[in-house]
Amino acid sequence: MPTPTPADKFTFGLWTVNYNGTDPFGGPTRPSMDVVHVVEKLAEIGAYGMTFHDDDLFAFGSTDAERQGQIDRLKGALADTGLKIPMVTTNLFSAPVFKDGGFTSNDRAVRRFAIRKVLRQIDLGAELGAETFVMWGGREGAEYDSAKDIRQALERYREAVNFLGDYVVSKGYNLRFAIEPKPNEPRGDILLPTVGHALAFIDSLERPELVGLNPEVGHEQMAGLNFAAGIAQALYHGKLFHIDLNGQRGIKYDQDLVFGHGDLHNAFALVDLLENGGPNGGQAYEGPRHFDYKPSRTEDESGVWDSAKANIQTYLLLKERAKAFRADPEVQAALEAARVVELAQPTFGEGETYDAFVADRSAYEDFDPSAYLGGKGFGFVRLQQLATEHLLGAR
Ligand code: GCO
Ligand code: MN
Ligand code: MN
Repeated sequence: MPTPTPADKFTFGLWTVNYNGTDPFGGPTRPSMDVVHVVEKLAEIGAYGMTFHDDDLFAFGSTDAERQGQIDRLKGALADTGLKIPMVTTNLFSAPVFKDGGFTSNDRAVRRFAIRKVLRQIDLGAELGAETFVMWGGREGAEYDSAKDIRQALERYREAVNFLGDYVVSKGYNLRFAIEPKPNEPRGDILLPTVGHALAFIDSLERPELVGLNPEVGHEQMAGLNFAAGIAQALYHGKLFHIDLNGQRGIKYDQDLVFGHGDLHNAFALVDLLENGGPNGGQAYEGPRHFDYKPSRTEDESGVWDSAKANIQTYLLLKERAKAFRADPEVQAALEAARVVELAQPTFGEGETYDAFVADRSAYEDFDPSAYLGGKGFGFVRLQQLATEHLLGAR
């Protein structure tokens, strides 16, 4: 089995490995673990860093002294292990006050409280060296159409994000924001439900350069979308600031399975893209490989760490398989035959004018579209089978 190194940048949310098994139908099946223990175990399994919501470290409603006590204990564990905190985020979804959301609650006082809660966590993140601040708006949404004025909600969302952008710039923090889309759950419908919706929203901001995406595998798949394709578009727009890796089996509740324990083909395509999709075949994304999964409630603590290691192992194995896939001469020939490379060629010649294009008989008059009936197959299926054989370790 491949061994992880800090250079692989594997990170885990404190809320992931520390998930106690609570779901809408039952309470905890595991006791909560202390943050110092979690940091030590993550370092032991080869993680690079940990991320957390404010409320994961100090309970909602903690006094300043309790909060500081927990921060100091975390700092001690980081100093002892060398683990980093590359990303932090704020919990604007658990406490009753956020039942109609944070930035977009119909209740203005709640919106002001939510933004203050975020500012406190931004300050803490900057102090701990975090470079990314994730915004997952799980409660920003509604169940009933008449209950939420969507255009005003987006305006309030925009107002909040613009304000936070001004704040980090005025403080001189080296921090960028990453919006995490999700279609539903816990709200019936969540604002900014997919990568595409969030990209359009980012374009409307005052400091769009400060704001990107933190797409999650399962969230796009809950909407029936192709995650690897969504990530490719996020990269195309320069907006892949962070990523949440996990597994999901189809359009249903958010399963948060181990990475690869859902759509394995798509996970292969994703790792291939992240690791080999950059210029000259290098990495297309250099940020943390962040696992946002839930160890199933059937597991005890040893199962928790097995599942954490499973995320890492699956990623590293897919990385090996994707390298072998790219290096295989048969795959290269199949890519050529499938004309994948030809798509990089511009449709028009350099400087080709409208008149020159219309005068080109080969484009229309002499072109034979009938050759495509019963001929000129692309061989995409063969290419996918080669990928499958590499994925299965058969090549
Ligand atoms: C979910 C989300 C969250 C966020 C987290 C960080 O579906 O519950 O994925 O886990 O990633 O709140 O912002
Ligand atoms: Mn999720
Ligand atoms: Mn997530």
